[in-house]
Amino acid sequence: MKRLENKTAIITGGSGGIGKETAVRFLKEGANVALVDLNQEALDEAKKELGEDDRVIVVKADVSSAEDTINFFQKTVEAFGKVDIVFANAGIEGKVHSFEDYDDATFDLVMKVNVKGVYLSIKHAIPVLKKAGGGSIIVTSSITGLQATAKAVAYSTSKHATVGLMRTAAVELAKDKIRVNTINPSPVDGRMMRSLEAGYNPEEAEAAQKNLESLIPMGRYAEASEIADLALFLASDESKFITGTTNPIDGGMTC
Ligand SMILES: NC(=O)c1ccc[n+]([C@@H]2O[C@H](COP(=O)([O-])OP(=O)(O)OC[C@H]3O[C@@H](n4cnc5c(N)ncnc54)[C@H](O)[C@@H]3O)[C@@H](O)[C@H]2O)c1
Repeated sequence: MKRLENKTAIITGGSGGIGKETAVRFLKEGANVALVDLNQEALDEAKKELGEDDRVIVVKADVSSAEDTINFFQKTVEAFGKVDIVFANAGIEGKVHSFEDYDDATFDLVMKVNVKGVYLSIKHAIPVLKKAGGGSIIVTSSITGLQATAKAVAYSTSKHATVGLMRTAAVELAKDKIRVNTINPSPVDGRMMRSLEAGYNPEEAEAAQKNLESLIPMGRYAEASEIADLALFLASDESKFITGTTNPIDGGMTC
């Protein structure tokens, strides 16, 4: 039996690096998948890459909008009848600036997407997952949600906040058989790190990568597929007694 047979999953940030790799894993294990993202072009591309499978729908949405969030839950239920797994994974990095010089508009935007977006995904998941008899909500936080990261006040603060959202939801929803956990990755190879490396060292982004890698005992960034493996475990019944937890996946960076 496949690990997600007869399950339906929503993945926000579904056309990004981690979202798409997770879709690959979830499909392989038998799930139906709704990819939700702001970027329609990338969603269409992702659907193609996933083989135009009948078990995949894509929905354009801004996770910080309540209306869009209600809509992507509705569209998923219309397509597949129910939802069992919600991977609240959409997020933005903001800018690399000192606290003193941080731009207020960027701070507001990062909070809106990374905090309000996760809040709305959990809030609107609740009635739908209750109807399915329970389920698993997984939130992509970060190691910056567990410890300080200089020059990333909005991002680090927002990722700490997702831990608060997760913990509150986990204790409230345990009685409904809804589990809620965060994944807390260290740097993951892909678009977001290229953007941050350029912010840390505009003249020599590769040096910024080397510097970050030197802080990781395993000496490298994570691969998106490694984050997807953890998401799969937290989505599956193999983690059925795990709720309210943070899960660093970081090559030893926070130990
Ligand atoms: N890449 C890393 O190093 C890293 C490390 C720790 C945590 N994370 C977190 O992992 C998650 C996924 O990041 P990724 O590495 O795949 O980056 P990514 O940029 O490849 O993917 C993020 C996706 O979110 C989408 N998105 C952004 N704003 C949105 C909105 N308002 N509504 C809907 N979709 C929106 C983007 O279009 C993009 O497809 C993010 O929450 C990120 O903060 C990433």
